Amino acid sequence: MKRVISIDGPAASGKSSAAKRLAKQLGWGFVNSGEFYRSVTWAMLKSKVDVDIPAAVVEAAGQLSLDGEIVDGLSRVLVDGDVVPVDELSTAEVNDAVSKVARVFEVRDKVVGRLRALADAEPVVMEGRDIGSVVFPETRYKFYVDASEEVRQQRRAAQGLTDQISQRDKADSQRKSSPLKVPDGAVVIDSSEMNLEEVVAAIVERLAEAGFEA
Ligand code: CDP
Ligand code: CDP
Repeated sequence: MKRVISIDGPAASGKSSAAKRLAKQLGWGFVNSGEFYRSVTWAMLKSKVDVDIPAAVVEAAGQLSLDGEIVDGLSRVLVDGDVVPVDELSTAEVNDAVSKVARVFEVRDKVVGRLRALADAEPVVMEGRDIGSVVFPETRYKFYVDASEEVRQQRRAAQGLTDQISQRDKADSQRKSSPLKVPDGAVVIDSSEMNLEEVVAAIVERLAEAGFEA
């Protein structure tokens, strides 16, 4: 059986940092599903696909060769057989376009297939928007890490990144295909006044209460 801990939540809530730390602590793989949507977006922007036109995104998605792998405990994405450079995935251009690409069912279908396959190979902590609700609804261990919009905006700004997170959250929550929401059965952690260690400790505590064993 696949072994998965899902961590969903809005932009800059700290889910990726928490998931990465937890995975390392458990000796499990860490999968950043947002990097898959960002990589698809990056590839489409490079090929000058008009991401405002869903039909253009559908067509480009059909032609895209997308793969994922976990190396030394960390996921990475390959497009056309080459590893996508992570530093090109959090630019203002990708931030502005990613929700338009991620709302398209054909893109999600392709990414979800790759994400599910990653969990065949090893146990994973996977973070995103729909991991507990759609990708692995059967997992017993689901978390939703949140924080106030003000705190999340501060966190992203402190990273030195240009990112209209409220627009992205709105688009991600309102789309038809796998919208961002608290998955059924997920433990919600409001991290507005917690540092990373406290968030990870809270997750570990809830896992122990649920009888989790790594
Ligand atoms: O790090 P941050 O939370 O800002 O974003 P991310 O996790 O890298 O995700 C980037 C975008 O990909 C999100 O705004 C969503 O549009 C999309 N995404 C998604 O639709 N489903 C996921 N499981 C993960 C990301
Ligand atoms: O993956 P997501 O977009 O949800 O957030 P992240 O990239 O893990 O975290 C965004 C920034 O907030 C990082 O610089 C984290 O170190 C920081 N952070 C924080 O200051 N306090 C927390 N409790 C969690 C994250």
